[in-house]
Amino acid sequence: MSKETSLKTALLIVISMMLGALLSSLDIVPPLDNDRREPLTHADLEGEQIPSFPLDTHSHPDEITEARQEVQEVRVLCWVLTTPTSHLSKAVHVRATWGSRCDKLIFISSKNDTELGAIDVGVGEGRQVLWGKTKAALTHAYNLYLEDYDWFFKADDDTYAVMENLRYMLAIYDPNFPIYFGSRFKLFTKQGYMSGGGGYVLSREALKQFIEVSLPNKKLCKGDTNTGAEDAELGKCLDNIGVVAGDSRDSYGRGRFFPFTPVTHLFGLVPDWYLDYVYYKPDMGLNCCSDSAVAFHYVDSHLMYQLEYLLYHLRPHGVYHRLPDPAPLPPDTKSIPFQALRKVAGSGWVAAATERPQQVNHEEQKYMNAVD
Ligand SMILES: *[C@@H]1O[C@H](CO)[C@@H](O)[C@H](O)[C@H]1NC(C)=O
Repeated sequence: MSKETSLKTALLIVISMMLGALLSSLDIVPPLDNDRREPLTHADLEGEQIPSFPLDTHSHPDEITEARQEVQEVRVLCWVLTTPTSHLSKAVHVRATWGSRCDKLIFISSKNDTELGAIDVGVGEGRQVLWGKTKAALTHAYNLYLEDYDWFFKADDDTYAVMENLRYMLAIYDPNFPIYFGSRFKLFTKQGYMSGGGGYVLSREALKQFIEVSLPNKKLCKGDTNTGAEDAELGKCLDNIGVVAGDSRDSYGRGRFFPFTPVTHLFGLVPDWYLDYVYYKPDMGLNCCSDSAVAFHYVDSHLMYQLEYLLYHLRPHGVYHRLPDPAPLPPDTKSIPFQALRKVAGSGWVAAATERPQQVNHEEQKYMNAVD
């Protein structure tokens, strides 16, 4: 650097520091660019330029899949709520990205579309019949697929899910125990419910009891009308029959299911209502979200392919990142009855627990001994 340039640089730095000091003393802050804020509602996603066909992709034949057999064998049926107007703008992109990693993928709609894999569940269209759509979707899954899959994962057509991490998390649980996981909210019932947009997943037994016990009984579940907030209604129906709302966080207490985009959670740009609803106090920064996160919401098609590229194509050369396996338990063991845990030959659960960063408390130790 020549003497003249370094002088210029120094001068520029001094001027910008003075300007900054002046601006902050006057309380003038550059306005936030509101046009570029992260979506917090469905309306925020409207107006996106979206192709009506899946983007080209390629596979990586040399890729190494290290997941244990037990993790790979967790069978997940995904049912994705969509509408006819979104078949070609959103659903096709779900199918072209994360949806292809489900063991079975069904789009729940008000119009059949065999090419997409969408079915008309016969309750019409609109946000006001979402509860009806949800009941119909779960009934469909129960009638046709109960025995073929272990877990039943609900997502929206603007959810992005990492199916490998869903299987990783679920592999330690027994699908024959009535439990469900998701982005946990604390309203309406004592144990709360799972927010709809962040995705939720029911064990086979939870689905079975919902259809056989809860739904037919008016005292337990709103079976006769299609209106109502689908996630809250489902939460009540499940709570009333003792289906456990599980803790889906990782052992560090970092969430895995999210109702907003990664950026929203990273920067704590969540709306105030979220802080009143969320069951476990959320964090921000890179501790917002688990390294084995499962789902994000309000993901437009651009972000969907961006995530797909970052997660399944772009690799920093020579960097490997192994998650402990089996997945260590989440902190809120009260929300994980030990009967819900699946025993894995040899490894046992105490071994999994020792991976946990927190000090093991006595109550937990007793619990662990009981599990063992
Ligand atoms: C949609 O598909 C279902 C089953 O696949 C069928 O029973 C129904 O008649 C179809 N609806 C229309 C309008 O084609």
